Amino acid sequence: MSTHSEPSVSLRPAVTDDLKQIMEIEVQSYPEPWKKTHFLDEMQKSYARLLVLTDDDTDMIVIGYIVYWVQSSGISLLNVTVDPKWRGFGFGMKLMQAMIKEAVHEDIPRIVLEVREGNSHAIALYRGIGFQVTHTRKSFYSNGENALVMEIKTSDAPTTLQ
Ligand SMILES: CC(C)(COP(=O)(O)OP(=O)(O)OC[C@H]1O[C@@H](n2cnc3c(N)ncnc32)[C@H](O)[C@@H]1OP(=O)(O)O)[C@@H](O)C(=O)NCCC(=O)NCCS
Repeated sequence: MSTHSEPSVSLRPAVTDDLKQIMEIEVQSYPEPWKKTHFLDEMQKSYARLLVLTDDDTDMIVIGYIVYWVQSSGISLLNVTVDPKWRGFGFGMKLMQAMIKEAVHEDIPRIVLEVREGNSHAIALYRGIGFQVTHTRKSFYSNGENALVMEIKTSDAPTTLQ
C-alpha cells in the first residue's frame, strides 16, 4: 500500500489479530487510550460492535475502527478512530456510515455520543452528519475537560449515509 494513494477499503468485524494495530492507532490518538482488555471486553458483548476498516489488497492493514453499542432505545458510539496517516480521506465518515446504516436497518431511533469539547475535528465530523449537542458534562474527563453529549435522530441522518 503506497502512502501517496488512498487505498480501497472495506469494513468487517474485528478479530483478535487486529488488536495489535488497533492499539498502535489508539495510543497515538488519545490522551487516555483504551487498554487492550477494554477492546477484548467489547468483543465479548452481544450488543457491542467493533468494526475495522481494512485495505482491500490484504484485508490485514487496519486503517480505522469503530465501537458502538446497539440497544433498542438507541445506539451509543464509544470510539471512532482513524490511523493518523490516513485522516482526511473520508474514512471516519465511512465508519460513521456503517453505524448509521445499522440504526436504519434495525429501526433504532437515535444515536448518541460524547466528545471532548476541544476535539474540533471529531465535532466537525459529527456536526457534518447532523448530530446536535444536547448537553454538556462538566469536567467529565480526568484533565477537567468538558464532554459534549451529541445526538441525532436516525430519521434525520442524511439519506446518502443511510
Ligand atoms: C475524528 C476522526 C475519526 C475523523 O476521521 P477522518 O477520516 O479524518 O474524517 P473524514 O476524512 O471522514 O472527515 C469527515 C469530516 O470530519 C471533519 N474533519 C475531519 N478532519 C478534519 C480536520 N482536520 N479539520 C476540520 N474538520 C475535519 C470534516 O467535517 C470532514 O468533512 P469534509 O471532508 O466534508 O470537510 C479522526 O480525526 C480521528 O481518528 N481522530 C482521533 C480520534 C478521535 O478524536 N475520535 C473521536 C473521539 S469522540
